[in-house]
Amino acid sequence: KLPDIEPSLVQVTKTDSPKQVPPPSSLVFGHTFTDHMLTVPWQMLEGWGTPKIQPFSNLSLPPSATVFHYAHCLFEGLKAYRDTNGKVTLFRPDMNMKRMNNTAHRVAMPGFNGDAMVELMKQLVRLDKHWIPDQPGYSLYIRPTMIGTQPALGIAPPKEVLLFVICSPVGPYYPQGFKPVALYGTTEYVRAAPGGIGAYKLGANYAAGVAAQKAAAAKGYVQNLWLHGPDHHITEVGTMNAFVVFKQADGTTELVTPPLDGMILPGVTRDSVLTLAKEHAAGHINVPELTNKLVVSERPVTMGEVKEAARKGNLVEFFGTGTAAVISPVDRIGYLGEDVQIPTGPDGMGPVSRPLWKHLTGIQTGAIPHPWAVEV
Ligand code: COI
Repeated sequence: KLPDIEPSLVQVTKTDSPKQVPPPSSLVFGHTFTDHMLTVPWQMLEGWGTPKIQPFSNLSLPPSATVFHYAHCLFEGLKAYRDTNGKVTLFRPDMNMKRMNNTAHRVAMPGFNGDAMVELMKQLVRLDKHWIPDQPGYSLYIRPTMIGTQPALGIAPPKEVLLFVICSPVGPYYPQGFKPVALYGTTEYVRAAPGGIGAYKLGANYAAGVAAQKAAAAKGYVQNLWLHGPDHHITEVGTMNAFVVFKQADGTTELVTPPLDGMILPGVTRDSVLTLAKEHAAGHINVPELTNKLVVSERPVTMGEVKEAARKGNLVEFFGTGTAAVISPVDRIGYLGEDVQIPTGPDGMGPVSRPLWKHLTGIQTGAIPHPWAVEV
């Protein structure tokens, strides 16, 4: 068996020219990076090599590297938070490492020991922890990435790979904060198809969405609502998972998100929102201010159903979930030439998303003790 990633072998080289940490108010999502990065090379015949924590610097790659030709690029996104006691935590990093392995497998790139990577990321974050802003809504966005580096143009699993991790101090993803966004229910572009790559965090998925986003923006919308099939099933919102809330005839409130059918990215925030909502609905935990008459469904939901609920006054809210923005409320969906209006509260969020957001961010920032917050 070839060597896996081994944290005890890490070589640490500290920067001799640390950068000035910028004021949080000046941060634009993903534009600023910390002093250090982590790299781990892999070769088919040798397995995973020596992990290195080293000064943040350019990579040097041959132009023939497969990443530049066939999109051998996959990534993850997770956050480190500085809690009120100054403790630094990672939010559910095991989930990201599991998904990264699944994504790597989908494109015939190598798997690795996720726990070992979490250990190394903790070391990296410890070294750069003074970069984590301590204002609410701010965190350190961690970007593990895997690329194919083999210099070869034949289409095949890359025989050489580089795994690297960089970190970026971030504030709210959308500069407008929780201001609800308008979506364009696109019938021109498709994000994912059965058997395709939509359930994997591959760079290619995101590149393919940009022209569609630009087209939606030209029509006056912020993001696309990705629909699938002749019935226009709701799949995702821009780069986020989609949630809809309906008022039911029996007095219950239904929180719906599409099932993980191979076209949906298994979001960590999606899973966290679902888990908290299900535990609350079952009476195992209490999410303050969230209705007790909550039904949580992972089921297909169509644009027709949303439109009909809006017409009847049974649509409670619509929102996206993701690591970057956490929860992003939606106030309008352009669909087949008309706008479906979605209710939003004074702070943008609604009666289901607001308590869930409060509870989730309470866990992320340490106000609510929870095993999901993993100390660095
Ligand atoms: C998310 O966290 O919602 C993402 O999809 C990451 C984004 C910056 C690509």
